[in-house]
Amino acid sequence: MFHSLVAAPPDPILGLTEAFKKDPNPNKINLGVGVYKDAQGRTPVLASVKRAEEKLLRAEQTKNYLPIEGHTEFDAATLALLFGANHPLLHSGRAVTAQAPGGTGALRVAADFIASTLGARTVWLSDPTWPNHPNVFQAAGLKIATYPYFDKSSNGVAFEAMLAAFGNIPEGDVVVLHGCCHNPTGIDLNRAQWRAVAEVVAERALLPIVDFAYQGFAEGLEADAAGLTELAEHCSDLLVASSYSKNFGLYNERVGALTLIAAKADAADTALSHIKRVIRANYSNPPAHGAAVVATVLNDPELRAQWEVEVGEMRDRINLMRHLFVETLQEKGVMQDFSFIARQRGMFSFSGLTPEQVKALRERHAVYVVGSGRISVAGMTEANMDYLCHAIADVLAK
Ligand code: LMR
Repeated sequence: MFHSLVAAPPDPILGLTEAFKKDPNPNKINLGVGVYKDAQGRTPVLASVKRAEEKLLRAEQTKNYLPIEGHTEFDAATLALLFGANHPLLHSGRAVTAQAPGGTGALRVAADFIASTLGARTVWLSDPTWPNHPNVFQAAGLKIATYPYFDKSSNGVAFEAMLAAFGNIPEGDVVVLHGCCHNPTGIDLNRAQWRAVAEVVAERALLPIVDFAYQGFAEGLEADAAGLTELAEHCSDLLVASSYSKNFGLYNERVGALTLIAAKADAADTALSHIKRVIRANYSNPPAHGAAVVATVLNDPELRAQWEVEVGEMRDRINLMRHLFVETLQEKGVMQDFSFIARQRGMFSFSGLTPEQVKALRERHAVYVVGSGRISVAGMTEANMDYLCHAIADVLAK
């Protein structure tokens, strides 16, 4: 039965990590996957997380199943984190949150929910986007299409083209927007642009899904939710797939959430019944530990304050690396202007390296970068910067 199968291609991001692990070069650097590294090159467990885990270890009474929609306090705390504790949505009944296994799990629940309740919608993705977006939506049986996002000539958003494209998307179709720290470009909309997008999305009755995997990594927890707030103000219906992989460093706990906003509270309840149906058919109910950690931290003022400082430290370190990267490239004699990298936000930068240069970096220097030229700045350290920039200078020179 299986003898005629042809192997699937390796994943463009996680496949790189597999190859990286096998590489014997002691100087190897993985700038592929979006995983935070500290100054020592480690992916640490946050101190606030460790403290919450100690608390949980002492207090835990049971390993009984969670409800289908997940940990109740986690769901409430997630909604408050997304929109701010005083947002009117919190007490309107119009917003419901279901825990999901990571941001990817939340996207897949959203995709299955859309496919099974709203029918054959096309899902519009930014060009470029996270390479797993097409997989997730297509796996749910949805068609995908793209809208312009990146303007190569200015290293900015192709905003006019994006807005014009939105004006032509058929009513009822789905648009996926990156809440902040656009993956892969690191280039976000400003508030006025978000407002204009929210207006056209509302006018054309499109369904927005915000992929919100990096809250806190651009400017701050509240500032990074500006786009979300604009969408919630203008659009009656909205989906948000959020993740705690990055801002809590809970990568392998797979903890995220799908939040749905509907025009009325009863519509939100009905929609939640379908989300629960989708979850039950996929993985029954979510794992408990990561969600319990997040709820413990967010609901304890002392742990929360500590966590906010830790998120700020991660953000600041990445920004420091952006500047050091640009400076060190100059020191290595690179003539090409990379100053835009210092202005991009979040873990990723779209470097402009060609697929041939990416290949040469890997083969000649054991530096791993996604084929599109996306670089995870979060993987740079002061210790690997010199080697990295020397390697880039070398491939650019040939
Ligand atoms: C990334 O884009 O590197 C991260 O979101 C990790 C992943 O799952 O691809």
